[in-house]
Amino acid sequence: MHTKIIVALGAAALLAACDGVATRGQGGESSVDAALHAEIQARGLSGDPGAGRQLPGIDDPLAQLGMQLFFSKALGGDSDAACVSCHHPMLGGGDDLSLSIGVGAVDPDLLGPGRRHPGAQPTVPRNAPTTFNTALWDQYLFLDGRVESLGKEAGMAGRGSGIRTPDVALGSADPAAGIDLLAAQARFPVTSMEEMRGEHFEASGNNADVRRHLAERLGGYGNAQAELPGSQWLTAFRAAFGSDEPAESLITYANIAEALAAYQRSQTFVATPWRDYVQGDTSALDDQQKRGALVFFRAPEAGGAGCASCHSGDFFTDEDFHNIAMPQIGPGKGDDVDGDFGRYRETGIAAERFAFRTPTLLNVAVTGPFGHAGAYDSLRETVLHHLDAHSAVAAFHFGLGQLDQFDGNGEQIYPRARAHTEAALDHLQAARGSGDSRLPVVTLATRDVDALVAFLEALTDPCVLDRQCMTAWIPGDASPDPDGQRLNAVNRFGDRL
Ligand code: HEC
Ligand code: HEC
Repeated sequence: MHTKIIVALGAAALLAACDGVATRGQGGESSVDAALHAEIQARGLSGDPGAGRQLPGIDDPLAQLGMQLFFSKALGGDSDAACVSCHHPMLGGGDDLSLSIGVGAVDPDLLGPGRRHPGAQPTVPRNAPTTFNTALWDQYLFLDGRVESLGKEAGMAGRGSGIRTPDVALGSADPAAGIDLLAAQARFPVTSMEEMRGEHFEASGNNADVRRHLAERLGGYGNAQAELPGSQWLTAFRAAFGSDEPAESLITYANIAEALAAYQRSQTFVATPWRDYVQGDTSALDDQQKRGALVFFRAPEAGGAGCASCHSGDFFTDEDFHNIAMPQIGPGKGDDVDGDFGRYRETGIAAERFAFRTPTLLNVAVTGPFGHAGAYDSLRETVLHHLDAHSAVAAFHFGLGQLDQFDGNGEQIYPRARAHTEAALDHLQAARGSGDSRLPVVTLATRDVDALVAFLEALTDPCVLDRQCMTAWIPGDASPDPDGQRLNAVNRFGDRL
């Protein structure tokens, strides 16, 4: 079982010695590059998951408006949370926390580690996924897929057929969903009590009331006309939409969502070393990363870890749901009192209990903590969990101490976290017994684990690591701030992000 890998390693050494010679004539055995090339060919990879899509640049006027909205706390019911509270470009498009903290933060402008909530536990039940490359999802948004393209057309991001959202029943189209999955998704964070709405805003209203009130606040009309005195939103919307309509018809929540979607579509970061390699630059990866790639793609029977059976294609996801029993350390979504049943919440299909959407692995060097509840801070721990979930959970510290967010600054992992995680493990065990799990138990040598982690790091676009490169996605002091409510984020040391 391990022979192939050893042969491949031998070939790597030879390759280094022969300076780019791709094949080892003798016995027909391939070098690492040739073996990897075969995997790439067999899977039909191009290296570029964005190919063929129409995506706006950040200079697009609608994306610019979207950026101003994304950073405005005026979209929070109590004006203390913005989209960027949990999705900052310098925090990998997420918040660098295991579990997000939205409304009621001790310091609303402090993002990342050190962001606190006065209570003992974070209130948001899940980890904030990255907004980077969200334009590339064609089937589902949210970790449980509750925003769903009904037609699932490849390359369409939900355009072209109806979109189901949590406002309507499973399987039906939401007539108000908007143009694509991202526009549909952007209708929901503002309605979540823990994320942006707060407990008192439109307390007796429904989702539509919340959205209407926010649009009226920004537009300065209706019952909310006095909430943002002196706001310049009308000028900003007119410029972005190229329209001279009045606020009542231009500053609607549908248009707010469309602009937020455009900003997020502009956050497409796919220029990874891996892409360069697939497109022919064999020097874009080092030998360890190439070996890691082989471990990633090959099935366990061939000495690999079988990662690509779920993290498939150029976007490194099958856009499907699997239970891999990552620790459930949060307060849960209220399933069976305080658990989180993942996709099962939406479908009620028993096999989907505890199943979450396979994440993309692009930019994974900056998108941690990992898993739906952010249970692991490091890629290595995440990989080890995949290889042997039972051992990883047995070794997990459900008290304090394992995660940065719970490092003794007062916040605690949810008391029933262990029981919830064990329930997911039992479910995984049963699925394995009936042949319904695609997650194998894999034994890898330490150097193969190291290689796998090195490969994962090569899936990151260098731009997202570079403040200079990211500047265009972060409003600077000279950028318009239409309502004076911009969240100028700082880290725990008070430095601007
Ligand atoms: C309090 C933190 C918080 C705030 C504020 C917030 N989000 Fe999120 N966001 C999350 C979390 C947590 C999830 C995952 C929730 C789930 O899947 O159940 C998420 C999911 C998403 C997703 C889905 C990504 C994917 O891979 O499917 C997008 C897109 C997104 N948010 C955009 C936004 C926008 C736009 C706003 C502002 C209107 C916003 N978020 C405000 C925490 C936040
Ligand atoms: C059975 C399908 C499956 C296989 C096989 C699989 N994964 Fe995953 N992976 C998932 C799912 C599902 C998640 C998200 C789990 C959650 O949210 O709790 C995930 C999460 C991850 C994450 C965290 C990403 C993030 O943004 O949170 C990484 C990294 C990862 N996988 C890498 C790998 C590697 C490396 C392998 C091979 C050793 C692998 N996966 C094999 C399904 C799979």
